[in-house]
Amino acid sequence: MIIGSKLIFLKNLPSTNSYAASLVKEKEVSEGTIIYTNYQSMGRGQGWNKWESEENKNLLISIILFPSMIKPAEQFLLSMVVSLGICDFLDLYTTTISIKWPNDIYVNNDKIAGILIENSIMGDLIEHTIAGIGININQSKFLSDAPNPVSLTNLTGGQFDLSQCLSQLASSLDKWYNHLISGDSELIKHDYISRLYHYKKWYKYQDLKGTFKGRIVNVSDTGKLMVERESGSVNEFSYKEIDFI
Ligand code: BTN
Repeated sequence: MIIGSKLIFLKNLPSTNSYAASLVKEKEVSEGTIIYTNYQSMGRGQGWNKWESEENKNLLISIILFPSMIKPAEQFLLSMVVSLGICDFLDLYTTTISIKWPNDIYVNNDKIAGILIENSIMGDLIEHTIAGIGININQSKFLSDAPNPVSLTNLTGGQFDLSQCLSQLASSLDKWYNHLISGDSELIKHDYISRLYHYKKWYKYQDLKGTFKGRIVNVSDTGKLMVERESGSVNEFSYKEIDFI
């Protein structure tokens, strides 16, 4: 086991990702170390967003990885691996899980988990990766202006043991990380794409030029979303260049 081979718990932190980044700078850390906490005072989301999580209710973790088997140009594989690991974990408790490109985890039309991957790149090498994961487990009310949060409790009415959830999550992430180590990138891409939210179905999207009807047909090797228009042409979009509406 790599992911979860070492666990570091702190009762509260500003952000597990920020703590992991300072740790990896300060000293030698073994690959797969998980830092987790019960409360973040400055939990970070994508862009400038904050990550809301009530104390003691959810999974808030960061994993330190040294993915020397891939080049910086292939870094989207890490997003795929982490997304698939979370989906496999959630499969244990609920259904209809999908990945909203690039790496939001959805149940139906609501977001149950977010991922913040921070890679440190030096030339042609990924020096280290910090994979931050927040999964809504036992929180029943969300107070921030996040549009559509949902938790396992909201979905099932149950309460879940966070330490059991953490070890299940670690082993499903470890399974997918081992696929990456073994060079199974085609399997990773295939499974990621087949889990995509709205995959191959016609929906409305918005790009810089306006709204249009399209369907997701693929994701490029660099992680761009490939959307087919009604005309049959296929466009590639980077993060923030396209909105789902
Ligand atoms: C997003 O969907 O916007 C990404 C959310 C990522 C949240 C997790 S919680 C643990 C880790 N530490 C952070 O500060 N953020 C990530």
